[in-house]
Amino acid sequence: MELPFAESWKIKMIEPIRKSTYEERKQWMKDAHYNLFQIKSEQVYIDLITDSGTGAMSDRQWAAMMIGDESYAGASSFFNLQHTIQQLTGFEYIIPTHQGRAAENVLFSYLVHEGDIIPGNSHFDTTKGHIEGRKAVALDCTIDEARNTQLELPFKGNVDIRKLEDALEKYAERIPFIIITITNNTAGGQPVSMQNLREVRELANKYNKKVLFDSARFAENAYFIKTRDTDYKDKTIKEIVREMFDLADGMTMSAKKDGIVNMGGFIATRLKDWYDGAKGYCVQFEGYLTYGGMNGRDMNALAVGLDENTEFDNLESRIRQIQYLATKLDEYGIPYQRPAGGHAIFVDATRVLTHVPKEEFPAQTLAIELYLEAGIRGCEIGYILADRDPITRENRFNGLDLLRLAIPRRVYTDNHMNVVAVALKNVFDKRESITRGVRIIEEASLMRHFTVKLERIAD
Ligand code: F0G
Repeated sequence: MELPFAESWKIKMIEPIRKSTYEERKQWMKDAHYNLFQIKSEQVYIDLITDSGTGAMSDRQWAAMMIGDESYAGASSFFNLQHTIQQLTGFEYIIPTHQGRAAENVLFSYLVHEGDIIPGNSHFDTTKGHIEGRKAVALDCTIDEARNTQLELPFKGNVDIRKLEDALEKYAERIPFIIITITNNTAGGQPVSMQNLREVRELANKYNKKVLFDSARFAENAYFIKTRDTDYKDKTIKEIVREMFDLADGMTMSAKKDGIVNMGGFIATRLKDWYDGAKGYCVQFEGYLTYGGMNGRDMNALAVGLDENTEFDNLESRIRQIQYLATKLDEYGIPYQRPAGGHAIFVDATRVLTHVPKEEFPAQTLAIELYLEAGIRGCEIGYILADRDPITRENRFNGLDLLRLAIPRRVYTDNHMNVVAVALKNVFDKRESITRGVRIIEEASLMRHFTVKLERIAD
């Protein structure tokens, strides 16, 4: 008999988590104005709000932290990190930053100007924010198929090459670079194929443009290339990673995801002019060039994390857990963005809460119901997150309305996934009786999801 699959690690340290009662959760949810960002972590049983900075470090990472070099300038920890990134990506120039959005801020301060257009697959919120904040446009050229949650495609995060070429034809002068987010978080943690990366590179060369990867989950992307593209089945993750980055001029990185550290990020590039242009902003916003907002110990831990998480076994343990949860949801008939992504399950709330009108925010309502059911915290990636149109001030209902269940790396067991699946099933089973959602009583004009105050609409 073939041995079943099991994780490629064992657990050395644990953190107790606490269950609560329905009555407690009802009160806490009300006190938090039905906003899960306002819930305290101790009021949460299983926390799936994000996979960012919430992973469990390995013994090797903790050991590396102990020998972190906290020197202001020229710390050995920086050179460790630089060496690892250079080996992995082939990029010569490295600028550390305190997290991914800081890398965007530093690099875009040099690269993005008023009136520019930055095409790519779906830009992450902070990336979009850093582009729009500079009065430039983030142009989404993701394939249309990504919007149909029930369609199974191996590389649903791809750039639509035709849309990209149209943009390059039309706005050539206004486009400083193309950005590709790997994996495509907004489209459901969906990967981008090597073929697509190559086609983007070819187009960029044709129009003399640069290519930047938003690389938060690059290792998960490489895992999908290895497991879904037969041309790559015999290549190592590190070989695939190198081949991916050979197609880019540089990267911004939120190390809180595939670097498996709690805080950190960086810019890496082969272009001296990007490095020279950006480094002054690093000093201004983040810190001197050999720490850029990171502790020496954290740079050491990141160097080890990047190395570990570009090994197949570690990625397999992770992604199989997402797929495990997906299989459970399939059993119960719960609709989500198919196929399961690399870091999360995105439940298609409008297909679950069919009676809740869009004006009453179905995905947020589902997030609240799941929390009330079992203390599980997910995150709305939908109409509230989409903010209002900056000109008309109307809510934007043209995208998907999803409940994201992001799984932290190496933190929960499959037993926790069983609880998540059953809790969601219990909500799903009573979906016909959920007819009303929430209304906004207070909101910020940008990034309102973090602080929005809501109230439940009574039947
Ligand atoms: N790019 C992508 C694709 C991301 O998913 C994130 C963060 C960032 C950039 C920004 O990085 O948080 O280190 O500043 N995503 C988190 C999430 C917050 O929950 O998906 P950061």
